Order: sequence, then C-alpha cells, then structure tokens
Amino acid sequence: MKILAIESSCDETAAAVVEDGRVVLSSIVASQVEEHRLYGGVVPEIASRRHAESISGVVREALNAAEVTMEDIDAIGVTFAPGLIGALLVGVNFAKGLSLATGKPLIGVHHLRSHIAANYITHLKLKPPFLCLVVSGGHSHIVAVEDYTKMHVIGQTRDDAAGEAFDKAARTMGMPYPGGIELDKLAERGNERAYVLPHPTVAGSEFDFSFSGLKTAVINTIHNAEQKGTMIIKEDMCASFRRAVVDCLTENTFKAAEKFGAKTIVVAGGVSANTLLRREMARISAERNLELYVPRVSLCGDNAAMVGSQAYYEFLSGNVAELDLNAVATLPIDYR
Ligand code: KG4
Ligand code: ZN
Repeated sequence: MKILAIESSCDETAAAVVEDGRVVLSSIVASQVEEHRLYGGVVPEIASRRHAESISGVVREALNAAEVTMEDIDAIGVTFAPGLIGALLVGVNFAKGLSLATGKPLIGVHHLRSHIAANYITHLKLKPPFLCLVVSGGHSHIVAVEDYTKMHVIGQTRDDAAGEAFDKAARTMGMPYPGGIELDKLAERGNERAYVLPHPTVAGSEFDFSFSGLKTAVINTIHNAEQKGTMIIKEDMCASFRRAVVDCLTENTFKAAEKFGAKTIVVAGGVSANTLLRREMARISAERNLELYVPRVSLCGDNAAMVGSQAYYEFLSGNVAELDLNAVATLPIDYR
C-alpha cells in the first residue's frame, strides 16, 4: 500500500511516498528556517504563507521522486495535530482537496506519533510494545507504546520542552534560531563540569520533567559573570547545560523502564539528534541489557516520511478521516 504523506505542522513543508509503512520511496522537505531565523523563532503567519506557496510543488516533487502518479497512491496521510494551527490547516486542506479530487482515503496523523514512526522506517524490524522518550521543540514525553496506535503518557514536561530549552539557552548565548544543534556542536568541545547547574525534578511525579529553571540558571550565570566584568566560556556552558538536560531525560526514562518492565527503549523527535543524548541512551541501555532504537539523524527532525509510516498503521487500525477533518493545535498523543 502506497501512502502520499504531507507534513506542515511547523516550519517545514514536507511530502513523502511511503510503502506499507516501512519503505520510503521519496521524502522532500522544504525548510523555512532561514527566514524565521531573522526573527529569532517561528513566526506563525509567515509559516502558513510559506506552506501555502510551497505545498503543491513539494507534493509534486515527492510524487516525481518516487516515480509514481496519484493513480498509484492508495491513501493520503496528513499531520492534523498538534502544531501551529494556521500551518497545519494548509496541509490538512491540501490533503482534503486531493482526497476529494481522487477519491482516495484520507488519514489524519498525530505529529508526535509520526516522530515515533521515524523509528519504523529506520529499524524495519522494530515493533511495539516499547517505551519511548519523545523529545521535540514543543514536547517532552515518556510514552508507553503498547501498539502502533495504542499508547499512553507516563511523564511529560511541566514547562519548557527539551528542544525549547536547548533553543532558549542557545539564544541566551547569542546563537541563532534554532540553536539546539549549534549548542550540541559547541558542547562537544566543552567541559561539562565547568558550571554547576540545577538538576530539576518535579515533586510528587517521578517521570515528569521541568526545564525552565535550568534556562534561568544559565541566564543568571551569564549575568553574574557580566557584573564581574568577565565572560562565560561558551563551550563549557553548552556542555554543562547539555549534560544537565540529558541527565534529566535519561534518569526519568530509565526509571520508567524499570518500573514498567520495559525491555525496549526508543527515542524520537528533533532532540533525538542530540549527540550526548544518543551516547548516554546507548551507554545506559547496554549497561542494563535493554534494546535501544534511535531514528536515523536525517529523520529526527520534521519530515513527511514518518507521517507516511504512521498513517499506514492508523489506516490498518481503521482510523480513516472524513472530509470534515480539521486541524487541532493541541491534542494528547493518546487521543484515541
Ligand atoms: O521535532 P522537531 O523537528 O520539531 C518539533 O516538532 O518541535 O524538533 C525541533 C527541536 C528544536 O528545538 C531543535 O533545536 C532541536 O529539536 N534539536 C536539537 C538538536 N537537533 C535539533 N536539540 C539538541 N541537540 C540537537 N542536536
Ligand atoms: Zn516535530
């Protein structure tokens, strides 16, 4: 079964053709990041307008690259939630138009579920059940994935998402949006013990995260240094910050794995590209004899191949949408 998939939840317009949920025939991503960088973050209205301009070209490119036409496509998958509402609406409406014109079934896909599915196209044998750490620019969740379309949240962030924390800390140190990647690169050259940063936990909920205090600690350390007429060492601050975030993520994930008896751990979302997170997840999983899966780095960020994969499993579960499908800005991952 060939699915044409569309993603437009944030600042990437993407389309892909995926066969049977596992084989990527094409994957096209048009990023708007250069334009949003001018403003230090994603400007929702600009994002919607760029999606509207790019979407038909991106979809056509995905079909061409897969060497198929709409006639070869069996269903249309589209990210409908969560995300920037105006951005989501562009993809959803385009997919609805295609579905109406061709009579092909329409499948609404939850963005975080698709991030998890990036692992199904990276690791062809991977199947639920597993425990998944989903860390993106907007979300940080520990999710028990019982089946492809059956999951529940065990822990989540109480304030900033992990990616958001990385981006905010990077911005404080003068790096352009989205700074998470550059912070990660600088951290590779820094001393992670140089600065003592808090290790925030959430009282009464052992699997939840809180990252806003960490960001404040970075700002305070920079201000204190400035008041003393000195400067922080950027590489060292990046390394110390990254260590603190990664320790929080790994600690809660492995605590959850132990409590729920998980044997397989999966990481998903933009932050799963983080070098230290990948290293630490691998080290601790090996120590505890757990199987670990992380997405190929090129599939960590937003793309439509992962949407095509999840759409297949939603279709098999009977989750086919009608033409009144709407975009939803916030929706829990276990919505159905
Ligand atoms: O999943 P994603 O592409 O978009 C959302 O659904 O939010 O995640 C983007 C986030 C950004 O905050 C970005 O800075 C972060 O992932 N990110 C990283 C790295 N690569 C991307 N954060 C830390 N280290 C990285 N290597
Ligand atoms: Zn994403």
